[in-house]
Amino acid sequence: MEQSEKTINPMDLIKKIEVALNDSLETISKCVSINELNSLTVMTVGKKSQLIELRSQLKNVEVSARKEIGKVLTDALEKVEETFKLKQSELNLIAEQNYDRNDLTEFWAKLDNTYKVKTGGLHPVTEAQWDLEEIFISMGFSVTDGPEVETDWYNFEALNIPKDHPARGMWDTFYLESGVPETVLMRTHTSPVQIRVMKCYSPPIYTVMPGRCFRRDTPDARHLATFHQIEGLVVDKGITFAHLAGTIEKFTTSYFGPNIHARLRPAYFPFTEPSAEFEITCTVCSGVGCRTCSMTGWIELGGCGMVDPEVFFAVGINPEEWSGFAFGFGIDRLVQMKYSLNDMRDLIENDLRLLRQF
Ligand code: DAH
Repeated sequence: MEQSEKTINPMDLIKKIEVALNDSLETISKCVSINELNSLTVMTVGKKSQLIELRSQLKNVEVSARKEIGKVLTDALEKVEETFKLKQSELNLIAEQNYDRNDLTEFWAKLDNTYKVKTGGLHPVTEAQWDLEEIFISMGFSVTDGPEVETDWYNFEALNIPKDHPARGMWDTFYLESGVPETVLMRTHTSPVQIRVMKCYSPPIYTVMPGRCFRRDTPDARHLATFHQIEGLVVDKGITFAHLAGTIEKFTTSYFGPNIHARLRPAYFPFTEPSAEFEITCTVCSGVGCRTCSMTGWIELGGCGMVDPEVFFAVGINPEEWSGFAFGFGIDRLVQMKYSLNDMRDLIENDLRLLRQF
């Protein structure tokens, strides 16, 4: 039985080894990128290579010829391995030369015929945040900061979003393992800063509150899991919806220029009543209608409304005496609009080719 399996003619096996060797060398030599070569490792020098497969046939050759064929096979394997390694260093070198690196030694730049130290620049989102702060300061607002780690009470409860309220679904939340489960979280919006401001200061209040927010969103062209919002809050005597509409229109034209306008559409937020979404003229088509704005000419930017009396009760402000409006919108979205960026994720990739343009 054992005898009959040993049927392979030694010369045939040697021929097969030669073919496999030439085949493997050709495959390696044809690779043009390191990734391509690496993806062929198993097929050329790994377990699935033709030569390794032929090695398993060695036992089917008569014993007297095995030693010689074994040597041919080992030589072939060594040759392929050596060629693979040479190709690998060659392609690695090319990849390194082509790799667009942030060369930290490259901080001298030739400007106006003299060498100057290149300094970094502000990230477009930081720049937008600072520009917005300037605009609101010029309109009489102050700027207030709040914590990124919040409690459930500030982020939801005090904003009239009780535990089982369906609106909580709008804010997929990162909870922290701290204290009672689901009580400490990464803020999902800047609205909790409104609550902190109203608890700390008595009206009249005119303030904007920019900052980072966090949601369990899968990043896509229009969403990031970490993003920036700016919140606005006004509490004074006799504040009406007209003040809100005027403020939003004023900030829109100040930021985007006189051709871009704002409009309000009815919406629902638990902490404002009535509530609205505000939209601005699409910056891509200037309102004519295009794919970005689904042919409507308008792009949604944020939410706003008159502060709900429940919110005033939560912070101890008398809604009979005071009224107010609030708004909040995404700064990253605003930057995306301003520069017509197709994909918001570009803002967090730190690609200097993009960042240097701002
Ligand atoms: N916090 C809301 C959100 O993240 C946005 C918002 C809507 C803020 C209405 C407001 C407001 O202040 O009045 O979706």
